[in-house]
Amino acid sequence: MAQNVNVRPAYQEIDGFILPRSFSSNCFRGTLTYKARDDDIFIVTFPKCGTTWVQHIVHNILHKGKSFESFQDFQRYSPFMEMTGPEAAVRMPRPGAIKTHLPFHLNPYSPKAKYIYVARNPKDTCVSFYYHTKMIPPYEFANGTFDEYFNIFINGENYFGDYFDHLLSWYEHRNDSNVLFITYEDMKIDKRGAILKIASFLGKEYEDMLLTDEKLMEKILFQTSVEYMKKYANDHMHSFLSGKSEDVEKNPYIPEGIQHINQYMKNNNIKPPEEVNFVRKAVVGDWKNHFTPEQSRILKEKFQEKTKGTDISNLWPN
Ligand code: A3P
Repeated sequence: MAQNVNVRPAYQEIDGFILPRSFSSNCFRGTLTYKARDDDIFIVTFPKCGTTWVQHIVHNILHKGKSFESFQDFQRYSPFMEMTGPEAAVRMPRPGAIKTHLPFHLNPYSPKAKYIYVARNPKDTCVSFYYHTKMIPPYEFANGTFDEYFNIFINGENYFGDYFDHLLSWYEHRNDSNVLFITYEDMKIDKRGAILKIASFLGKEYEDMLLTDEKLMEKILFQTSVEYMKKYANDHMHSFLSGKSEDVEKNPYIPEGIQHINQYMKNNNIKPPEEVNFVRKAVVGDWKNHFTPEQSRILKEKFQEKTKGTDISNLWPN
């Protein structure tokens, strides 16, 4: 069957950067001028590499086993800055952790701020991004096929641009003392170890807290499990896309970028989804159910070409 190679999710290009059309360009530009504070913690990823999982882990560590209670709570303590705009980071109650999807050279930087970078096998990332892009109504890709999305991904035409450039930009800094570079796959193999590693990176007091309080560790393991997050993270995302702000009386501040998206959906008569499967399969290797052998070869070749001269391919030999 002939493929429509021009099919793209609804996007805009801002200074060469590809973003969902529903995002506020003001908020994005503002993010690039945010001055990182010495006490800032950033959770940085290419989309779909385990961002939300790590946001939940970090929040549970910083707040001693407390989870996000609502979408408002989530975006207040861990704002997605390109989407919300920098004001949300300025107003973030601390300790909190800012989420970004920016490559190293664009991410607000301070030598004292901490950066947790989560990487994931590009094949699984591509599959996860495909389902995510289909699921979010303002992305207008509900009828897109995997083959179409594969072409978008391989050409770096997806939101947030080329996967490989993003990964390489942060991989170069993996040994910097203020960068913790971890992979989704390692977190799946040893989640307890990953939580301890993150805690130790955030501060010895957090590591000691977990090493001496097994109950707390168990609680955090549970509250960052797929089952737990399926319920809460999916609900939070749904409430956002429905334009609901359930504890708005307690916290009347809604970031400019979120108001912008809700308004964009209203203006374009875009309905919220019935349900949101943001936490989807949460496994390693789902690409095997989607990639043809040809697609697998093409991606592998692109991977090898882009990462020549580095040892990145050791991270994901397949
Ligand atoms: P899949 O689509 O492969 O299931 P992000 O938060 O960066 O958008 O990443 C989303 C991916 O992380 C999804 O992958 C999602 O299922 C997975 N994920 C979310 N919570 C998780 C958890 N607690 N444990 C493992 N994976 C999780």
